Amino acid sequence: MAYNLLKGKKGIIFGALDENSIAWKTAERVHEEGGSFVLTNAPIAMRMGQINALAEKTGSQIIPADATSEEDLENLISQSMEILGGKLDFVLHSIGMSVNVRKGRHYTDEKYDWTAKGWEVSALSFHKVMQGLYKADAMNPWGSIVALTYMAAQRTFPDYNDMADNKAYLESVARSFGYFFGKEKQVRVNTISQSPTPTTAGQGVKGFDAFINYAEKMSPLGNATAQDCADYTVSLFSDLTRKVTMQNLFHDGGFSATGVSQEIIETFGDS
Ligand SMILES: NC(=O)c1ccc[n+]([C@@H]2O[C@H](COP(=O)([O-])OP(=O)(O)OC[C@H]3O[C@@H](n4cnc5c(N)ncnc54)[C@H](O)[C@@H]3O)[C@@H](O)[C@H]2O)c1
Repeated sequence: MAYNLLKGKKGIIFGALDENSIAWKTAERVHEEGGSFVLTNAPIAMRMGQINALAEKTGSQIIPADATSEEDLENLISQSMEILGGKLDFVLHSIGMSVNVRKGRHYTDEKYDWTAKGWEVSALSFHKVMQGLYKADAMNPWGSIVALTYMAAQRTFPDYNDMADNKAYLESVARSFGYFFGKEKQVRVNTISQSPTPTTAGQGVKGFDAFINYAEKMSPLGNATAQDCADYTVSLFSDLTRKVTMQNLFHDGGFSATGVSQEIIETFGDS
């Protein structure tokens, strides 16, 4: 169902790789709610070309940008304002990548230049995006900036590896920049801490299939899907959440507040 919640609002959506991506579902949902946007991803991720179908479906233009490059980001922000005809109301940062995870390197045996690369892409890029927006004065008052995170920032999940540290940094940046964006520009900044979700990035984590099933059984409402996340993000981009800022918002069917569920207890039998 569409509610016209984002009618007339403009923004940038980072991170739609394929139709499983959280950013892809969000772009479709934002479009349904009347928002218009520029789609962006790393030039290398666009070689697959799938993003073209999303652009066509949502009537959007695509501007490639490596989120670790200040120059790319500056260009993206200025071009987006030109294309959309004014300042922005929403930005979605839906970017993550760990080289240590990708190459199966254990947390106790990190290769630090890979660690640095993963941090740059997954965490520092959020600061760069916001600094670019801030300096260009690109956000309208009461705009909304959202990044995606995972609960491994608060609690240990062994196979999440160095992404846990990247997410902790990302969440801290949301608070720190959220202060200045709130004070100076009346813009809100939040992170959504999403359930495990079967996407390219998600499935790169070792033991993902078992883990997503475990999380499903541990969450009273079941795991939040990418589609559910798109709905939640729309609410955060809308005018209905104008005083929510500097928060890490759990969107996980109750997983983060559950000690143990009956289903999990039952898997251990009577012994
Ligand atoms: N899938 C999950 O289980 C899960 C759970 C919680 C949070 N998240 C977070 O959600 C976000 C989106 O991931 P997803 O699950 O939709 O997977 P995805 O693989 O579809 O999206 C990750 C995106 O990051 C982009 N990216 C990588 N390097 C980049 C760079 N240098 N510049 C610009 N873009 C770059 C990729 O091209 C891709 O589009 C990530 O922050 C991820 O950590 C995912």
